[in-house]
Amino acid sequence: MAKYLNLTNEYNKVSLKEAASYINNGKLVLFPTETVYGIGADGLNEQAVKNIFIAKGRASDNPLILHISSIEMLDNIANITDPLEEELIKAFFPGPLTIVLQRKSIVPNAVTANLDTVGIRMPENKIAHDLIELANTPIAAPSANISGRPSGTNISDIFDELNDKVDYIIDGGETKVGLESTVVRVINHEIHILRPGKITYDDLSKYGKVIIPEHILSEVNKNDVVLSPGMKYRHYAPKTKCILVYSENKTNLIKKIQELETNNTLVITNSNNLKNFKNAISYGTTLEEISHNIFKLLRSADKGHYELIIIEGVKTEGLGLAIMNRLIRACSHNYLKV
Ligand code: TXA
Ligand code: MG
Repeated sequence: MAKYLNLTNEYNKVSLKEAASYINNGKLVLFPTETVYGIGADGLNEQAVKNIFIAKGRASDNPLILHISSIEMLDNIANITDPLEEELIKAFFPGPLTIVLQRKSIVPNAVTANLDTVGIRMPENKIAHDLIELANTPIAAPSANISGRPSGTNISDIFDELNDKVDYIIDGGETKVGLESTVVRVINHEIHILRPGKITYDDLSKYGKVIIPEHILSEVNKNDVVLSPGMKYRHYAPKTKCILVYSENKTNLIKKIQELETNNTLVITNSNNLKNFKNAISYGTTLEEISHNIFKLLRSADKGHYELIIIEGVKTEGLGLAIMNRLIRACSHNYLKV
């Protein structure tokens, strides 16, 4: 049973001192960021980091992100080898961007899964920032979920799943973005998007040539070599069977979903399309709303004992690329484009 700290109504930095001392003592602390909740531990304490993998049931070849609160912290754990990396850091830190850099030897192998690189992110969320600053150490944190499940965007969704697996829970309310950070790596002066997120292709294009690997929207086999190990794994998935349907033509989309739906199907769709289906809930209308709501909806849909969940896809532009990247995985690649 974890210790619980409620910061949803009022917050001051002093109330985080205890949580920071848990980090310093090698314990696991569930904390909010602007993207999703994280399961945090002292990123320089190898045993504490290993305990994150155990708590999540995560494959040990899938590296963790180190969360920092200052550029001095970055200098201690990673090297900048390309001026473009510096530019991206200046432009997007703090915020929902993770940049993969050359690691320094102080970083434990458990964090990087023995790679020579390390993912670095400076969260913008005040609670996350202050927790790292008070602990005065980079915090290693994957998304807060058991491996394979949708990432946690509020405490009530993940409490039962993680309460007995972590030592301390900080409740900071709903996360703002709702999808995990954009992960990038600069190679030969080009920006590779390893995982799409709130910072989009267009945002990054202002700084250099951006490359989107094919696997972002397709299946990755266990033995394929990919720059981001996390892309190999089953992800974000409800237990119920899911189908993702997308069409640029609204009539075709509605017709296809109507063909597929049974009497025990839940359709997750745009507010404007709700009325066309037997049993439907809305994920909003804008990409921001959809990204904010989608993981929560996937979790609640799972509790409804449906035989099928049908999800309306979105155009893969802007934030839509990140949404589709998650939805295609949530639906285990059951994706119909009509
Ligand atoms: O928004 C986020 O990024 C959240 C919050 C808590 O900060 N964290 C998060 O962590 O989503 P996680 O562990 O669920 O996803 C990290 C992703 C994985 O796909 C992993 O493979 C990739 O980042 N990654 C981490 N370090 C890497 C590295 N050195 N090289 C390539 N990919 C890396
Ligand atoms: Mg994750």
